[in-house]
Amino acid sequence: MCGIVGYIGNKPVYDILINGLKKLEYRGYDSAGIMLYDKTSVIKKSKGKVADLESLFTNKEDKKGSVGIGHTRWATHGPPNQINSHPHVSNSGEISLVHNGIIENYHSIKSVLLKKGYVFESDTDSEVLVNLIEDIKKSKKIKLGKAVYYALKQVVGAYAIAVFDSTNPNEIVTAKLGSPLAIGIGKSEYYIGSDPSPFLEFTKRCIYLNDHEMAIINLKKGLTLREIKEDSILDPFIEELEHDIEEVEKGGYDHFMLKEIFEQPQSIKDTFRGRLISASTPIKISSIEKHFDKFKSAKRIIFISCGTSWHAGLLAEYYFEELLRIPVEVEYASEFRYRNPIINKGDIVIPISQSGETADTLAAIKMAKEKGAFLYGICNVVGSTIARETHTGVYTHAGSEIGVASTKAFSCQISLLLLMALDIGKRLGTIEESRYKRVIKELAIIPQILEKVLSKSKHIENVSENFLDAANFLYLGRGYQFPIALEGALKLKEISYIHAEGYPAAEMKHGPIALIDESMPIVVIATKKGHYHKIVSNVLEIKARGGQIIAIVSEGDTEIKKLADHVIEIPNCDELIAPILANIPLQLLSYYIANKKGCNVDQPRNLAKSVTVE
Ligand code: AGP
Repeated sequence: MCGIVGYIGNKPVYDILINGLKKLEYRGYDSAGIMLYDKTSVIKKSKGKVADLESLFTNKEDKKGSVGIGHTRWATHGPPNQINSHPHVSNSGEISLVHNGIIENYHSIKSVLLKKGYVFESDTDSEVLVNLIEDIKKSKKIKLGKAVYYALKQVVGAYAIAVFDSTNPNEIVTAKLGSPLAIGIGKSEYYIGSDPSPFLEFTKRCIYLNDHEMAIINLKKGLTLREIKEDSILDPFIEELEHDIEEVEKGGYDHFMLKEIFEQPQSIKDTFRGRLISASTPIKISSIEKHFDKFKSAKRIIFISCGTSWHAGLLAEYYFEELLRIPVEVEYASEFRYRNPIINKGDIVIPISQSGETADTLAAIKMAKEKGAFLYGICNVVGSTIARETHTGVYTHAGSEIGVASTKAFSCQISLLLLMALDIGKRLGTIEESRYKRVIKELAIIPQILEKVLSKSKHIENVSENFLDAANFLYLGRGYQFPIALEGALKLKEISYIHAEGYPAAEMKHGPIALIDESMPIVVIATKKGHYHKIVSNVLEIKARGGQIIAIVSEGDTEIKKLADHVIEIPNCDELIAPILANIPLQLLSYYIANKKGCNVDQPRNLAKSVTVE
C-alpha cells in the first residue's frame, strides 16, 4: 500500500517524480525516496512526506537525469525511517527497485542470500527482492528483464515493482501481481505510476498491467509485455484515459476531503447517469438486467467489505431485506475469508470497495468464487482488481477519491445500493408500486437536495467549534440511520483522532449510557419517520444524565429541537433516502473538528487510502 512512480525519456525526471509522488501520497506517506540517473545514480530517501524528501535536494546537480524511479511508503516491514524507505539498492549498487506489496517468503530467500554473503541494511522484504534479482542476474549472466522474471517465479506475495539497472540505463523493468501498476505512453517516453495520476498531465495513453505481467521498457526498443506464468509475449492493450487532471487537483478547496464532500451532488449524478434517467422511466442497470435470473433464484445475498464500504453493506442489508425479501448477511471481509463460511448454490456475494484493491476483500472474493458463489462487484476504481475478479458488477462512478477518509465514494455506494434494491424489488414484485414511485421521484432529485444540505456548512462549522477538546463522542441512530451512526463515528476518529463509537440508539442503555456525563458529546440521528418517537425517548435519557446533544433532525422538527444543544436540519424525505442526507452533516462535522484541531485531514496518521495488505 505504497505509491510507485517512474520515468524514462528525454525530459528532466526530477519534477516528474516529485510531482508524481505528491499525487500518490494518498497511498502512503510515512517516508519517500527517489533514484535519478545521470551518468551515475543519485538516491535520496527521507522519513516523512514527499516535501521532506524535496528538502534534501539542495544541489541542482543532484536533480539531473531523464530516467528515475520513486516511492512513497506505508510501512509494512520495519518502522518508517530513512533506511527502510525505497528505492532499495542491490549490494553491488547497480540495481535499484521500488516495490508496493509484500513478499511473504522473503525470510527464506533472505537466509539463502545471507549464506551467499549478501548483506542487508534494512528490515524490508523489498531489499531482499532487489538482491535476489542481482544474484540471479550475476550468477546466470543474464539481462535485467530475465533476472526479474526468474526472481518473480520464486516469490510468493504481492507486488508492483519498477527496477532500474545502472549498467543499462536505457531500461526500466516493471511487473505486477496483486498491487496496481499503470504505464503512460508518451512520444519516445514512458511514465510509471501506481495509478495514472502522476502522468495524466502528460499523456492519456495508458497500459494497465494485469497480474502476472511484466513490461520491459526500453528507450531504444520500446515496450515488451510478457506473461510471467506462461513466459509468453503479449500484445499491449493501450487505453485512452478519460480522467481529467482537475479530478486529482484540489480545485480551490483547502483539502481534497472538503472538495470531495462538496462534489457529492455531482458524483451521485454520475452514479445515476444512464441508470436513473427520470422519475417516470424504469431504472436501468445493465448487469442486473443481464443477470436478473440470479437474483430471482437467490436464496441469500452476502455483502463483504471493509471499513466505510462495510457500512455501505450494512445499510444495504436494510434496503435489500426490506425491498427484496431475500435474507441478507453482511460480513467483514477480513473475518469472512478465514471462517470457512457456508456458501450454498444460489448465494450471491456482493463485494463493495472504493479502491477495488483491498486485500481482505479480494481474498474473500477468491474464496467465495472457489465455493461456487456468484460474485457481483460494486467498485469505484474502473479496471481495479476487484472489478476484474468478480463475475459482473457495477461501478459507482464517484470519480477519483484522494482524501483518505472516504466521503463521496460512500454516498455513491449507498445511493447505488438503494437504486439496485429498488430495481430488483420492482422486477421481483416485492415492492409496492406506489412506494417505488415515491422513492424514485425523490432519488431523481437527490443532487439538488444534497446541495441544500451542503448549504448548511457554515452552521455545521460553528457547531464544530464547541467540540475541539472533546476526548470521546457517541453516535446514535436506529434502523436505516444505524449504519450512518457507525460511519459518522469512523469519520471522526480517523481524521481527528477523537475516540468515537457508533451504536444502535436502543443499545445505549445496555452499557454505553455509563459513559454519559457533561463532557460527552452525543450525535443523535433523529430524522422523522422510522423510529422517531423511540429516539425522542433516548434523547431524554441522555439529557437526564447531562450529555451534550447534537441532533440531526428533519426540517420543521420541534420536539427534539427543545432538548438538543445543537440542531442540524436536513430536508424531509422518505426514510430510505434519509441516511444519504444525514451522512453529509456528519462528514462536515468531522472535517471541521479535525481541521480546526490542526490535523492532517487528507492524510491522517497511520492510514492509507487502499489497504492492499492483510
Ligand atoms: C474510509 O474512510 C477508510 N479510510 C477505510 O475504512 C476504507 O473504507 C476501507 O479501507 C475499505 O476500502 P475500500 O472501499 O477501498 O475497499
